[in-house]
Amino acid sequence: MAPSEDVTMDGKNEVKKPVEDGENKEDFYFTFYSSLQNQANMIGDVSRTGTYRKAILGNAAAAIRDKVVLDVGAGSGILSYMAAQAGAKAVVALEASSMAEKIQILVDQANKGETNPHLRNRVRVVKGMVEDKKVQEDVMKTGKVDTIISEPIGVMLLHERMVETFLLARDLFLKPGGSILPSAGHIFFCPFSDEGLFNETEQKFFNQTLFGTDFTALYEPARTEVFAQPVVGIFPPTSLMSAPMAPKTFDFYTCKLDDLLDFEIPIEFIASRTAVMHGLASWFDLDFEPSPPNQPADETEEELVRQWDYPVGQASANWLWMPGELPLNPGPTPEPPRKGLKVTLSTGPNAGALAASGAAGREPERKGRRLDQVQASRDLQPVPADLQVSVRLSVALTAATPTLASRRPALFRDAQRS
Ligand SMILES: C[S@@+](CC[C@H](N)C(=O)[O-])C[C@H]1O[C@@H](n2cnc3c(N)ncnc32)[C@H](O)[C@@H]1O
Repeated sequence: MAPSEDVTMDGKNEVKKPVEDGENKEDFYFTFYSSLQNQANMIGDVSRTGTYRKAILGNAAAAIRDKVVLDVGAGSGILSYMAAQAGAKAVVALEASSMAEKIQILVDQANKGETNPHLRNRVRVVKGMVEDKKVQEDVMKTGKVDTIISEPIGVMLLHERMVETFLLARDLFLKPGGSILPSAGHIFFCPFSDEGLFNETEQKFFNQTLFGTDFTALYEPARTEVFAQPVVGIFPPTSLMSAPMAPKTFDFYTCKLDDLLDFEIPIEFIASRTAVMHGLASWFDLDFEPSPPNQPADETEEELVRQWDYPVGQASANWLWMPGELPLNPGPTPEPPRKGLKVTLSTGPNAGALAASGAAGREPERKGRRLDQVQASRDLQPVPADLQVSVRLSVALTAATPTLASRRPALFRDAQRS
């Protein structure tokens, strides 16, 4: 029985909850993902799922077609089905929650020839956690795989603790030279000024008498508690106070599990205007690049890359595409580039610009951008423009079991609602 630990933004590990048994914590986590409604909400996040589809279909020639693909944390199986659409020879859909049985229903129906011909005799479902030895043996019945696909992201990229599972699967199951999608993640920080948010957060615990009892003695500890937590939400890019800093990058092809557990992010910025700094905003980008990464397209392929370089967003009704329908852009799906396509899923303030310029991103029409706001400052002194600030953020996570799934629902669904 290990204490449940979580990370605070001052880099210290804080025991947030009473000692909790790991199995219960996993139960809670996987119960969330056992819900078809929760899976449907994730599928319906068009920016997320559309970008994954673009990454899978656009990299079909380089990483999927005629390959053996492992979908780590398959959920509803949506990425497995896309891999099958993109021509995978075989797909292993690995899922720990009871959603594995739901995938099996679709697969059985397809295998009988009743529906979804693209899935027929192509998808094998493995139920269980990547970390489980028996599950690992079961996956290995298919042998090592050419490509791993997964959607392991959480708030501030890593908070769901599933990237660790993704990297473990890479180490256990990927053939040398194989591809992993996503291929890299980048965490950005930028100071922000937002008095409304600051006041709203500060007043979460009332500095007053409640139902006849004076709570003011608890105001300070309550304030400390609330400001140690990140606020997950959206705010307008206009609240940012400098250019975004160079991101902390995790190259999923090369990074080690330990790299995720203990790292530092230097934070240096020059304030672009005079304002009260209320905290640090953070967001992340996710890249999808097949192996070997950073291969420039051949000149002859440039046109193909251009054709695939369309924005993913609500404006596109094409996310409902199935074989036989008009896919992607109006007109037939172009042949995917032979060397693959670099696709980026961006959750930050540059997302609109990326989408508008044709790269993957969130919907250009969205007003506020979703950012993971990390409140780190109680200093109400205005930061003068041109002041250079330099601090270092240390993050230390424990190698505990995944923390609560409650952080994930906020990730994209809330952004969609706003
Ligand atoms: C964010 S969901 C993604 C689902 C689906 N791939 C999609 O894109 O909609 C992550 C899934 O991974 C599963 N999962 C999380 N940790 C896992 C682990 N250690 N082993 C196997 N599955 C895991 C969860 O149950 C959940 O269904």
